[in-house]
Amino acid sequence: MENKNNIYPIFDRMLAKEDKEELLKQKSAMIWFTGLSGSGKSTIAIALERELHKRGLLCRILDGDNIRSGINNNLGFSETDRIENIRRIAEIAKLFTDTGIITIAAFISPNEDIREMAADIIGRDQFYEVYVSTPLAECEKRDVKGLYAKARKGEIKDFTGVSAPFEAPINPSLVLDTSVLSLQESVNKLLELILPKVVK
Ligand code: ADX
Repeated sequence: MENKNNIYPIFDRMLAKEDKEELLKQKSAMIWFTGLSGSGKSTIAIALERELHKRGLLCRILDGDNIRSGINNNLGFSETDRIENIRRIAEIAKLFTDTGIITIAAFISPNEDIREMAADIIGRDQFYEVYVSTPLAECEKRDVKGLYAKARKGEIKDFTGVSAPFEAPINPSLVLDTSVLSLQESVNKLLELILPKVVK
């Protein structure tokens, strides 16, 4: 930190987001999924990316388990580590949105402060918070990764929804409950929200 004053960012001399958007013939957006583990965030993100891609739109998915096995492999699930996890992810996401790319993030991002931080870093004008509100009981019943069973047995500590908190978003752009909606229905709702914002 002692060298902070010797840093000279060149942001203002680089080509701008608008130049990249012009090249790509699209507008960038940040689609930020939040919800419990097993709620369906990644599945919806993957299906959404395919639909946007089919329409000639360039996207990038950032996903919890991918990022945590790479750039964030030194972080755990304490509150401090979750904040640092999302801070880095938001900075990475901004690199993509500033390149004109439609960026789709699928992280639990369990509380309002963490999601506010992400929106602040990325910019609120293009930030769409999507709450995948599938109830805990349903996520636990699915238990795709077997983690809820482990968490209940005490084999994983600080597990979101079991032994760590999840705060529902206050004012999300969209709410998708995958115990009620089919995957196609969720994707259709997203396309309705996103297409008008990203098609030039
Ligand atoms: S976040 O809370 O920091 O946003 P993130 O989305 O990156 O979480 O990672 C969540 C994924 O990590 C879960 O889907 C699950 O596979 C795995 N995981 C491992 N331990 C935990 C835990 N204690 N709490 C929640 N998820 C966990």
